[in-house]
Amino acid sequence: MASADQAAQNSKGPGGGTPQGTAQIGVTGLAVMGRNLARNLARNGYATAVHNRTAARTRALVEEFGDEGTFVPSETAADFVASLERPRRIIVMVKAGEPTDAVIEEFAPLLEPGDIIVDAGNAHFADTRRREKDLRKRGIHFVGSGVSGGEEGALHGPSIMPGGSAESYQALAPMLEAISAKAEDGSPCVAHIGPDGAGHFVKMVHNGIEYADMQLIAEAYDLLRHALDLPPAKIAEVFRGWNQGRLDSYLIEITAQVLAHTDADTGRPFVDVVLDQAEQKGTGRWTVQTALDLGAPVSGIAEAVFARSVSGHADLREAARELPGPTPTLLDSAAYDRFADDVEQALYASKIVAYAQGFHQIAAGSAEYGWNVDQGRVAAIWRAGCIIRAAFLDRIRSAFDARPDLPTLLIDEHFGEALRGAQSAWRRVVSTAAELGIPTPGFSAALAYYDSLRAERLPAALIQGQRDFFGAHTYRRTDRPGSFHTLWATPDRPEVTPS
Ligand code: 6PG
Repeated sequence: MASADQAAQNSKGPGGGTPQGTAQIGVTGLAVMGRNLARNLARNGYATAVHNRTAARTRALVEEFGDEGTFVPSETAADFVASLERPRRIIVMVKAGEPTDAVIEEFAPLLEPGDIIVDAGNAHFADTRRREKDLRKRGIHFVGSGVSGGEEGALHGPSIMPGGSAESYQALAPMLEAISAKAEDGSPCVAHIGPDGAGHFVKMVHNGIEYADMQLIAEAYDLLRHALDLPPAKIAEVFRGWNQGRLDSYLIEITAQVLAHTDADTGRPFVDVVLDQAEQKGTGRWTVQTALDLGAPVSGIAEAVFARSVSGHADLREAARELPGPTPTLLDSAAYDRFADDVEQALYASKIVAYAQGFHQIAAGSAEYGWNVDQGRVAAIWRAGCIIRAAFLDRIRSAFDARPDLPTLLIDEHFGEALRGAQSAWRRVVSTAAELGIPTPGFSAALAYYDSLRAERLPAALIQGQRDFFGAHTYRRTDRPGSFHTLWATPDRPEVTPS
């Protein structure tokens, strides 16, 4: 193969060994994501060192894609490190968890102060904080970086969310900007998110929002399917229409494609032959676990994670199948026309809530860990390349740019207006779903969150009373400061101030 020969020539030094110190950046871990990132770097003109635990993968990459740019392959970690110019920049693209620690332990002893390791996998931000701290002591920069966009994104332009030191970002920025997706205004979808684990934290929340967005879209589909009896191909058309408007997004676009797809074996709609048990690798779950620790109420994201979990409990679902409830019946023709439009409005409103909750969690994480995350920048780099890319992220960017300390997106002028316009339809959809017995945990949770935030008084006061009754947990009063306890067992129930 001509290209392989040429690549082999490109990549050998005069003596036939790996050339020393010539590669500008390296990628270790050449499964599809790592391979595509390496190709993206090489295509952008960067001499890219490549390495994999099993050398066959490295060879295959150079053979197949060697003509796309300059690859410098190595079979050993030592050769790989030696092939890099200084400061060395190494992107690690291996499985999160122990494999990442193993690779770091393999490479760190070969590196020198000032060198940079980038973990571009979906690591837990707490692991990233630990690794960054350990490597900092050894003088090595550790950059935990979110990378979103799947295989295609890695090759053609992902959204990149690097954490770590500002100094390491300086050394990486030109390369990351070159390989990243570009928003419509041409700006690269990469920004330094903040120190240590900030990048992986933001990527984790991105995935939590991704779960919520997918769940909401799935509920919209389910409603159209069961309340209007529309076949998947027709629903695909509805989604294609929605994609022309304010819901314009990658997830809506691919939903239309999935719904329009016919199974070749059976001739049935593809969506009808897929087992209805949603799986997960864990980033959505981490988002919710972390939100609980931070006290950030991400109920829409949590419902999306739980909905996947419910779907996977086949035995439980089987055991409960005979529970009574309405069999979804079709809406009458008068309601029919309005319903699809109502669902669009409910979807948009619920989506605003999901993003508002995710951004709230980012603000909470940023405050807890002192990251100083710029939420407008986060919205800006999610505008292209990532899975949740959507036209309305530009609106979110403007909202945070105009007011960086915005407490919630829901009160931004634009989104507040959209919610005001959508809320009647949103309520109709949630109540129709309840009447028809169609589960809409995402829509319902989003609406409940909205109503909770706008409520003048919440029944939390009653909960405080209950807590004080059985556990003397005390309560605060609306009319004066301090902590109070009622002596519930004493006949006249006097109130005391615990010392
Ligand atoms: C991305 C995706 C990517 C992936 C996740 C979610 O941003 O490119 O979020 O990280 O699709 O692994 O997968 P699960 O649905 O399996 O958790």
